[in-house]
Amino acid sequence: MRIPLERRAVGGGRVPLSRQIQSHLERLIREGKLAPGVKLLATRELAHDLGVNRTTVATAYEELIAAGWARAHVGQGTFVAERVPALAEPAPISAQKLDWSGFLSKRAQVVAADMHRRRAYGQLARPAPGTISFAGGMPDSTLFPTDAFRRVLNRVITQEGRELLQYYAPGGYPPLRRYLAGYLLRFGVEARPEDILIVNGSQQGFDLVARTLLDPGDLVAIEQPSYPRAMQVFRSFGAALVPVPLTEAGLSVPHLERLLERQTPKFLYCQPSAHNPTGLTMSLAVRQRLLEVAARHRLPIVEDGFDGTLFYGARPPGPLKAMDMAGLVVYIGTFSKILFPGLRLGWIVAPPALIERLEMAKQLADIHTSPLLQAAVYHFCERRLLERHQARALREYARRRETLLDGLRRLMPPGVTWTETAGGFSLLLTLPEGLETAALLPRAQARGVTFTPGDAFFIDGGGERSLRLSFSAVPVSQIDDGMKRLGDAIRDLGRHPDHAVREPELSVPLV
Ligand SMILES: Cc1ncc(COP(=O)(O)O)c(C=O)c1O
Repeated sequence: MRIPLERRAVGGGRVPLSRQIQSHLERLIREGKLAPGVKLLATRELAHDLGVNRTTVATAYEELIAAGWARAHVGQGTFVAERVPALAEPAPISAQKLDWSGFLSKRAQVVAADMHRRRAYGQLARPAPGTISFAGGMPDSTLFPTDAFRRVLNRVITQEGRELLQYYAPGGYPPLRRYLAGYLLRFGVEARPEDILIVNGSQQGFDLVARTLLDPGDLVAIEQPSYPRAMQVFRSFGAALVPVPLTEAGLSVPHLERLLERQTPKFLYCQPSAHNPTGLTMSLAVRQRLLEVAARHRLPIVEDGFDGTLFYGARPPGPLKAMDMAGLVVYIGTFSKILFPGLRLGWIVAPPALIERLEMAKQLADIHTSPLLQAAVYHFCERRLLERHQARALREYARRRETLLDGLRRLMPPGVTWTETAGGFSLLLTLPEGLETAALLPRAQARGVTFTPGDAFFIDGGGERSLRLSFSAVPVSQIDDGMKRLGDAIRDLGRHPDHAVREPELSVPLV
């Protein structure tokens, strides 16, 4: 560690070295640069680094402890106190320090505007303990097969560690690409391993597609409602989003056709199965019509295949990619919902000319996705552990979905409607005319239930009466209670519709 020390006497005398060390460390702690609980360097080590006597450092540490900035743990060392004396003030931006806001790219400004709205939502969404949360459409981590994954990971690192911890090919771990080619065949998608690019989750897929296909000012056609994080990415590359309304059977192809007569979007982004937020499935007829229209207008389709295996009841038709004779479809898949989102592991299937470009973009972005995790997931899948986990998790999600739909039917006031989710983790609920979600959320949270406001899933306005309920992470035993609380909050809002005003800055959810 470096601490600038003034060793010469200046003017009237010299500030003792221990005092200089103490002040320097105190400032680092105050500014949060030495975080609570962090261990300070051993006195011997710091003395060596600074070229001072060990007792000098020991004196500085004692002073820090006496003032409450640090704590000594006998036999373990000195640690930054968990709670420091004065609340750390953000350091004032001095006149000499560069003001970075003047240097931000347009892209960073677009991202910041979107993120700002999300943060505002995040504040509201931080529920009190005991709140039943239907927000955040993520898998239930209590169902994760962590032990089985740990065993596979241990074996992989033991057997292939040297190779997998080295720089790696950007396309991905070959056995995983081969496995995915076989996996996708089950859904009718025919892809060679080299047509598959391994990425850090679908999110990176959106980013690479946007980087490779979009120029500022381009149009992207998108189902409405749709997944906010995909919208954010396309917007951040300067694209304008053009909504195509969703029907019970999938996106409205006649609407898209009319749109294509007037405008030329670079591509269409859609989620044909397990749609987030509605849980709806695009019917086979709509899929066929869509592909016909897209082929006629030479419209590329970015298919978010997230996640066709999570369905309840009738199996969804195969992905658009499986029916794509004209080479129009880029398919993006992920292990996030069927396994662990924290792995950040997904894939893109695209025609050869495009996959090569996407791989170049990937190489620039992060060189490659962790080969260690790719190998672990490959071996996990090879041992059929994914299938076992999927079957178990799906049974549980199906129970939760059934319980939620049943609770909605019994406990919602008249006029409330919702989508009959057929796949994925959520459904979209719509409030009766005159009531708005933004006014409902605080009332619902006061009653101990929360959800994701629906406006986040709509493009520039719309969805003010809608909200997303995710059932995947709510235990069956809590769902009915959650619906009672929500029903009561809606009735309460209905009795005081004058309060049903929109709160500002309410937006994008996490997933
Ligand atoms: C529709 C949709 N696509 C993609 C993703 C992101 O997946 P990933 O974790 O692979 O980035 C999500 C996450 O919830 C999603 O809902």
